[in-house]
Amino acid sequence: MFKLGAFLISYFACLMIIPPTKKIAIFASGTGTNADNIIQYFKQKKTATVALIVCNNPQAGVLKIADINNIASLIIQKEKFFKGSAYVPELRNTEIDFIVLAGFLWKIPTLIINEYRDNIINIHPALLPKFGGKGMYGNSVHEAVLSAKEKESGITIHFVDEFYDNGKTIFQTTCPVYENDTTETLAKRIHELEYKYFPKVIEELIEKKHS
Ligand code: GRF
Repeated sequence: MFKLGAFLISYFACLMIIPPTKKIAIFASGTGTNADNIIQYFKQKKTATVALIVCNNPQAGVLKIADINNIASLIIQKEKFFKGSAYVPELRNTEIDFIVLAGFLWKIPTLIINEYRDNIINIHPALLPKFGGKGMYGNSVHEAVLSAKEKESGITIHFVDEFYDNGKTIFQTTCPVYENDTTETLAKRIHELEYKYFPKVIEELIEKKHS
Protein backbone atom coordinates (compact mmCIF):
# COMPACT_ATOMS: atom_id res chain seq x y z
CA MET A 1 0.00 0.00 0.00
CA PHE A 2 2.79 2.38 1.04
CA LYS A 3 4.75 1.46 -2.10
CA LEU A 4 1.78 2.24 -4.34
CA GLY A 5 1.33 5.63 -2.64
CA ALA A 6 5.01 6.49 -3.09
CA PHE A 7 4.85 5.39 -6.72
CA LEU A 8 1.81 7.55 -7.41
CA ILE A 9 3.37 10.58 -5.72
CA SER A 10 6.59 10.30 -7.74
CA TYR A 11 4.62 9.60 -10.94
CA PHE A 12 2.54 12.77 -10.59
CA ALA A 13 5.60 14.77 -9.50
CA CYS A 14 7.32 13.68 -12.73
CA LEU A 15 4.29 14.72 -14.77
CA MET A 16 4.49 18.16 -13.20
CA ILE A 17 8.25 18.57 -13.66
CA ILE A 18 8.82 17.09 -17.12
CA PRO A 19 6.97 19.06 -19.79
CA PRO A 20 5.26 16.91 -22.43
CA THR A 21 7.02 16.48 -25.78
CA LYS A 22 5.85 19.17 -28.20
CA LYS A 23 4.61 18.25 -31.64
CA ILE A 24 6.08 19.91 -34.71
CA ALA A 25 4.50 20.03 -38.16
CA ILE A 26 6.89 20.72 -41.03
CA PHE A 27 5.41 22.37 -44.10
CA ALA A 28 7.50 21.69 -47.22
CA SER A 29 6.94 21.68 -50.98
CA GLY A 30 10.14 20.14 -52.36
CA THR A 31 13.03 17.80 -51.72
CA GLY A 32 12.87 18.21 -47.97
CA THR A 33 16.53 17.89 -47.00
CA ASN A 34 15.93 20.36 -44.16
CA ALA A 35 12.85 18.43 -43.09
CA ASP A 36 14.93 15.25 -42.99
CA ASN A 37 17.66 16.96 -40.96
CA ILE A 38 15.11 18.30 -38.45
CA ILE A 39 13.41 14.88 -38.18
CA GLN A 40 16.74 13.16 -37.40
CA TYR A 41 17.73 15.86 -34.90
CA PHE A 42 14.54 15.56 -32.86
CA LYS A 43 14.70 11.75 -32.80
CA GLN A 44 17.51 12.25 -30.25
CA LYS A 45 15.61 14.83 -28.19
CA LYS A 46 12.80 14.89 -25.65
CA THR A 47 11.75 18.51 -26.20
CA ALA A 48 9.86 17.89 -29.41
CA THR A 49 9.12 15.43 -32.16
CA VAL A 50 8.16 15.87 -35.80
CA ALA A 51 4.60 14.56 -35.90
CA LEU A 52 3.37 15.70 -39.30
CA ILE A 53 4.60 16.68 -42.76
CA VAL A 54 2.31 19.05 -44.63
CA CYS A 55 2.86 19.28 -48.38
CA ASN A 56 1.09 20.89 -51.34
CA ASN A 57 2.84 18.78 -53.99
CA PRO A 58 2.02 15.05 -54.24
CA GLN A 59 5.30 14.44 -56.15
CA ALA A 60 7.54 16.13 -53.57
CA GLY A 61 10.53 14.23 -52.21
CA VAL A 62 9.62 15.27 -48.68
CA LEU A 63 6.69 12.80 -48.75
CA LYS A 64 9.12 9.91 -49.24
CA ILE A 65 11.12 11.20 -46.28
CA ALA A 66 7.92 11.20 -44.17
CA ASP A 67 7.22 7.59 -45.25
CA ILE A 68 10.73 6.33 -44.50
CA ASN A 69 10.54 7.89 -41.04
CA ASN A 70 6.98 6.72 -40.33
CA ILE A 71 5.69 10.24 -40.00
CA ALA A 72 2.13 11.09 -41.01
CA SER A 73 1.78 13.36 -44.00
CA LEU A 74 -1.01 15.60 -45.16
CA ILE A 75 -1.31 16.60 -48.81
CA ILE A 76 -3.20 19.86 -48.96
CA GLN A 77 -5.48 21.31 -51.64
CA LYS A 78 -5.37 24.95 -52.72
CA GLU A 79 -9.11 25.58 -52.41
CA LYS A 80 -9.39 24.34 -48.82
CA PHE A 81 -6.09 25.95 -47.79
CA PHE A 82 -6.91 29.43 -49.05
CA LYS A 83 -10.70 29.54 -49.08
CA GLY A 84 -11.72 26.92 -46.53
CA SER A 85 -10.61 25.89 -43.07
CA ALA A 86 -6.89 26.13 -44.02
CA TYR A 87 -6.57 22.67 -42.39
CA VAL A 88 -6.66 24.20 -38.91
CA PRO A 89 -8.97 21.39 -37.65
CA GLU A 90 -6.49 18.77 -38.92
CA LEU A 91 -3.60 20.57 -37.20
CA ARG A 92 -5.64 20.76 -33.98
CA ASN A 93 -6.61 17.07 -34.20
CA THR A 94 -2.94 16.10 -34.54
CA GLU A 95 -2.26 18.38 -31.53
CA ILE A 96 0.41 20.32 -33.39
CA ASP A 97 2.13 22.87 -31.12
CA PHE A 98 4.65 24.37 -33.51
CA ILE A 99 4.91 24.86 -37.29
CA VAL A 100 8.18 24.96 -39.23
CA LEU A 101 8.22 26.07 -42.85
CA ALA A 102 11.15 24.45 -44.66
CA GLY A 103 10.90 25.23 -48.34
CA PHE A 104 7.12 25.70 -48.36
CA LEU A 105 6.06 27.77 -51.34
CA TRP A 106 2.48 28.80 -50.55
CA LYS A 107 1.63 31.86 -48.48
CA ILE A 108 0.26 30.99 -45.03
CA PRO A 109 -3.44 31.89 -44.62
CA THR A 110 -4.54 34.17 -41.76
CA LEU A 111 -6.50 31.32 -40.12
CA ILE A 112 -3.23 29.44 -39.49
CA ILE A 113 -1.34 32.60 -38.50
CA ASN A 114 -4.02 33.43 -35.92
CA GLU A 115 -3.97 29.90 -34.51
CA TYR A 116 -0.16 29.63 -34.38
CA ARG A 117 1.08 33.23 -34.08
CA ASP A 118 4.61 33.19 -32.60
CA ASN A 119 4.62 29.41 -33.01
CA ILE A 120 5.27 29.39 -36.73
CA ILE A 121 8.68 30.06 -38.25
CA ASN A 122 10.33 30.01 -41.66
CA ILE A 123 13.86 29.72 -42.98
CA HIS A 124 14.97 31.93 -45.85
CA PRO A 125 18.21 31.26 -47.76
CA ALA A 126 19.50 34.86 -47.69
CA LEU A 127 19.94 37.78 -45.33
CA LEU A 128 16.49 39.37 -45.06
CA PRO A 129 15.25 42.03 -45.59
CA LYS A 130 17.36 41.77 -48.75
CA PHE A 131 16.37 39.22 -51.39
CA GLY A 132 12.98 38.33 -49.91
CA GLY A 133 9.34 38.64 -50.92
CA LYS A 134 7.06 37.00 -53.45
CA GLY A 135 8.84 34.78 -55.98
CA MET A 136 12.10 34.85 -54.02
CA TYR A 137 12.74 31.19 -53.32
CA GLY A 138 15.28 28.54 -54.25
CA ASN A 139 17.74 29.45 -56.97
CA SER A 140 16.09 32.80 -57.73
CA VAL A 141 17.35 34.03 -54.34
CA HIS A 142 20.93 32.91 -55.03
CA GLU A 143 20.79 34.33 -58.59
CA ALA A 144 19.75 37.71 -57.17
CA VAL A 145 22.55 37.61 -54.58
CA LEU A 146 25.12 36.80 -57.28
CA SER A 147 23.83 39.48 -59.70
CA ALA A 148 23.99 42.07 -56.91
CA LYS A 149 27.65 41.09 -56.44
CA GLU A 150 27.14 40.64 -52.69
CA LYS A 151 30.23 39.75 -50.69
CA GLU A 152 28.21 37.70 -48.23
CA SER A 153 24.93 35.85 -47.97
CA GLY A 154 23.46 33.67 -45.24
CA ILE A 155 20.28 32.39 -43.66
CA THR A 156 17.42 34.08 -41.85
CA ILE A 157 15.07 32.28 -39.49
CA HIS A 158 12.02 34.39 -38.75
CA PHE A 159 8.48 34.32 -37.40
CA VAL A 160 5.80 34.03 -40.05
CA ASP A 161 3.10 36.63 -40.46
CA GLU A 162 0.60 37.44 -43.20
CA PHE A 163 3.30 38.69 -45.58
CA TYR A 164 6.10 36.90 -47.43
CA ASP A 165 9.43 36.88 -45.54
CA ASN A 166 8.26 39.67 -43.26
CA GLY A 167 7.98 38.48 -39.64
CA LYS A 168 10.44 39.33 -36.88
CA THR A 169 13.93 37.87 -37.33
CA ILE A 170 14.92 35.23 -34.78
CA PHE A 171 18.36 34.28 -36.09
CA GLN A 172 20.76 35.17 -38.89
CA THR A 173 24.21 33.94 -39.78
CA THR A 174 26.40 34.64 -42.78
CA CYS A 175 28.74 32.94 -45.22
CA PRO A 176 31.04 34.42 -47.87
CA VAL A 177 30.06 34.74 -51.52
CA TYR A 178 33.00 34.13 -53.86
CA GLU A 179 33.53 35.67 -57.31
CA ASN A 180 33.45 32.28 -59.02
CA ASP A 181 30.31 31.09 -57.17
CA THR A 182 27.42 29.62 -59.13
CA THR A 183 23.90 29.27 -57.76
CA GLU A 184 24.78 25.61 -57.04
CA THR A 185 27.95 26.32 -55.04
CA LEU A 186 26.25 29.11 -53.10
CA ALA A 187 23.15 26.98 -52.46
CA LYS A 188 25.39 24.21 -51.08
CA ARG A 189 27.10 26.63 -48.66
CA ILE A 190 23.71 27.98 -47.55
CA HIS A 191 22.30 24.48 -47.05
CA GLU A 192 25.23 23.64 -44.75
CA LEU A 193 24.31 26.64 -42.57
CA GLU A 194 20.67 25.55 -42.56
CA TYR A 195 21.51 22.01 -41.46
CA LYS A 196 23.80 23.28 -38.72
CA TYR A 197 21.55 25.94 -37.18
CA PHE A 198 17.88 25.39 -38.02
CA PRO A 199 17.16 22.43 -35.68
CA LYS A 200 18.98 24.12 -32.78
CA VAL A 201 17.05 27.36 -33.23
CA ILE A 202 13.77 25.42 -33.33
CA GLU A 203 14.70 23.55 -30.16
CA GLU A 204 15.71 26.71 -28.27
CA LEU A 205 12.53 28.46 -29.29
CA ILE A 206 10.32 25.58 -28.20
CA GLU A 207 12.17 25.25 -24.89
CA LYS A 208 11.89 28.98 -24.22
CA LYS A 209 8.24 29.19 -25.16
CA HIS A 210 7.04 26.21 -23.23
CA SER A 211 9.20 26.41 -20.10
C1 GRF B 1 15.98 25.91 -48.25
O1 GRF B 1 17.11 26.46 -48.83
C2 GRF B 1 15.23 26.94 -47.45
O2 GRF B 1 16.00 28.01 -47.05
C3 GRF B 1 14.20 27.44 -48.41
O3 GRF B 1 13.86 26.35 -49.21
C4 GRF B 1 14.96 25.45 -49.28
C5 GRF B 1 14.43 24.07 -49.02
O4 GRF B 1 15.39 23.10 -49.31
N1 GRF B 1 13.11 28.07 -47.72
P1 GRF B 1 15.17 21.58 -48.93
O5 GRF B 1 13.92 21.11 -49.63
O6 GRF B 1 15.04 21.52 -47.45
O7 GRF B 1 16.41 20.89 -49.43
